Amino acid sequence: MQTIKITPENLKSLLVMTTVVEARDPYTAGHMWRVSQYARKLAGRAGLNADEIFVTSLGALIHDLGKVGVPDAILKKKGKLTPEEAEIMHQHPGLGKALVQDHPLGFLVADIIAEHHERIDGVGYPAGCPGEEISLYAQIVAISDSFDAMTSVRPYHREMSLPEAMARILRGSGTQFNGTFVDHFVELGESGKLNHIIGHSSEDRLLVSCPNCGPIVAIPDYAQSGDAVPCPACHSHLVLHENDESFEVEWDGSFDHSLAPAPDMKLVEDFLKHAPRAVKTPKKDLD
Ligand SMILES: [Fe+2]
Repeated sequence: MQTIKITPENLKSLLVMTTVVEARDPYTAGHMWRVSQYARKLAGRAGLNADEIFVTSLGALIHDLGKVGVPDAILKKKGKLTPEEAEIMHQHPGLGKALVQDHPLGFLVADIIAEHHERIDGVGYPAGCPGEEISLYAQIVAISDSFDAMTSVRPYHREMSLPEAMARILRGSGTQFNGTFVDHFVELGESGKLNHIIGHSSEDRLLVSCPNCGPIVAIPDYAQSGDAVPCPACHSHLVLHENDESFEVEWDGSFDHSLAPAPDMKLVEDFLKHAPRAVKTPKKDLD
């Protein structure tokens, strides 16, 4: 075992890198935060220690970093990818691993990034390696990532309900996913411990529907009725209306193109608050 110092500066630089992916593709608003939260819960439920839970949640946050290397026409396509496009999309785990390779904390998350689309039955991508060769952390992130994709609206599908998504995860037990982790994840879902994560982009930011393109507008907890929020994807100028405990947005017919993609520093600061100063991890060299 080796002890790795986690300096706030090093961790912050890794976290800022990950926010670039969402700044580029606002349709995935909150995806990384939610996957990280699901992975943290699942790792804890499965009995991993505090350092392992931290590494899993960090890897979950940054798992899709390689998508910065995927062309917009493929990343944002509203339909099924052609085999050629799928081949390019399937490069994102390897691209992400290469991007963190020289970062001082990169080796902690490199396997998670590289293996989050591998499957227990060996037909995942990019390596198609069998379950025993896939990092346990990546196996946790794979379930968390798939569950979030199912329960979020994407350009190519509407979201599933929690029971529907859990049934799909269960169907992948032992083939797509590690069966033990699936059992823990289903228990978490049944106990309601995932409910506050679904449909949010952070603990206190609910996502509401942009009437023009989907549920991707993050509403901060200090927002008030009458406040204006631009949609980060289509730039519609939206006005908030309070509705019971939640908000609805109304498009006033105009657009606000002044919004520039920016790192989500709230996500970064929130993660830094709960990060340890050091983690113990098995000795490992990057290949
Ligand atoms: Fe991915």
